[in-house]
This record gives sequence, C-alpha cells and structure tokens, in this order.
Amino acid sequence: MYVWPCAVVLAQYLWFHRSSLPGKAVLEIGAGVSLPGILAAKCGAKVTLSDSSLLPHCLDVCQQSCQMNNLPQISVVGLTWGHASPDLLALPPQDIILASDVFFEPEDFEPILMTVYFLMEKNPMLQFWSTYQVRSADWSLEALLYKWDMKCTHIPLETFDADRGEIAESDLPGRHTVEMLTISLRGQSPTGAVYAGTVKTPTRV
Ligand SMILES: C[S@@+](CC[C@H](N)C(=O)[O-])C[C@H]1O[C@@H](n2cnc3c(N)ncnc32)[C@H](O)[C@@H]1O
Repeated sequence: MYVWPCAVVLAQYLWFHRSSLPGKAVLEIGAGVSLPGILAAKCGAKVTLSDSSLLPHCLDVCQQSCQMNNLPQISVVGLTWGHASPDLLALPPQDIILASDVFFEPEDFEPILMTVYFLMEKNPMLQFWSTYQVRSADWSLEALLYKWDMKCTHIPLETFDADRGEIAESDLPGRHTVEMLTISLRGQSPTGAVYAGTVKTPTRV
C-alpha cells in the first residue's frame, strides 16, 4: 500500500506526542491506509477509523490496515464529510481528530469543518490535528474558520523533528511541501482553559 507524505508527517507528530495518547478517543477521517490512526492505536488510544461511506473500497483498506496490524479493537465507520449520518450521530465524544491530506479539494473544506464542529459540540476541548500538502497559494481556510468559530495554529515541522527529507526510513516528505496545523474552538486552549493569548493563524492550505 502507498503511504502518502502527509500521513508520514502526521504519524511523526503523533509519535512525538505519544505519551499523551493512552486512553484518548481518537477519530481519523479520510483515513485511507490509516497510518496515523494505526499508530495512535499502537500507542494506547481508543481509535475509530473512517472514510467516505460512498467509497466502500476505501473502508476496506481501513479494515485491511487493522487486520495487518493485529488491531481488531479498532472500529471502522463510514463518515462522509458534511453528512449527519447515523454513524456520525452515534460516535461518542472524541478527544482528537486526525486528518492527513484531506484538504485537497476546496469544495470539501467546509463539509470537513462541519463534521469537526459537530464533534466539537460534543466535546469543546476536541483538537483537530492535520497535515496537508501545499497545492495552491489561493486556497485558504480563514473565512471558514471564522464562520465556524474555530482557530488554527501552525505547527512548524522542526518542533517535532519532521523537517527532514527522511522520516522513519521513508524519503516521502522530502519531495513534497507538507504542513501541519491544529484546529480547536476559538476561546479554548489545547488544555480546555479559556485562552487569552494571541494565535498566529496561517490558513493557507
Ligand atoms: C488524499 S487521500 C488521503 C488518505 C490518507 N488520509 C493518507 O493521508 O494516506 C483522501 C482520503 O479522503 C477520503 N475522502 C474523499 N472524499 C471524502 C468525503 N467526502 N468524505 C470522507 N472521506 C473522503 C478518500 O477516500 C481518501 O481516503
């Protein structure tokens, strides 16, 4: 299976923060091969993998990744961005949403944030951790983040040892421009306390 550069960088971020993962409820959206979600489960998180309910072969890939990594406890559900499906409604509160390379079509940006916002209403301290490949300088999340009352923080790759062309014996990230961001509700710090600081908001995707 081909592992995309964004997935390698997000997995590196998870590995860097692995001590915070045991017991956390973690949902990966647009999971595909699911490297970040699989790593989170190996680090002790309670993981749910999801991909579009309209793409059953992608859900099969998620299932295969669980089997190949001997993780039968992971649930796999069909979640199409922006759809209020029974599977989305039935999800318990989540602590972290993982999303690797999901910002590749501007028309999907708002449906993705709608799904994230729905889950933030269940847990206002939820954090969205995402990597994206820089594809166009014209694409921006800024207006949508404002509309959905969210804030975004850019995480420099050097802060989690991902600023090198080779990570975990993979040379994939070196050939692409990959960026890392976290999104949370405006007014919430990552720990849930009311946040009064200034957040740099790089919103180009
Ligand atoms: C570029 S791939 C990234 C896959 C994986 N996250 C990775 O980084 O290797 C985009 C993923 O989003 C899923 N996807 C596309 N449109 C979607 C939608 N509307 N709702 C949910 N998932 C979707 C695709 O099936 C695919 O798995």
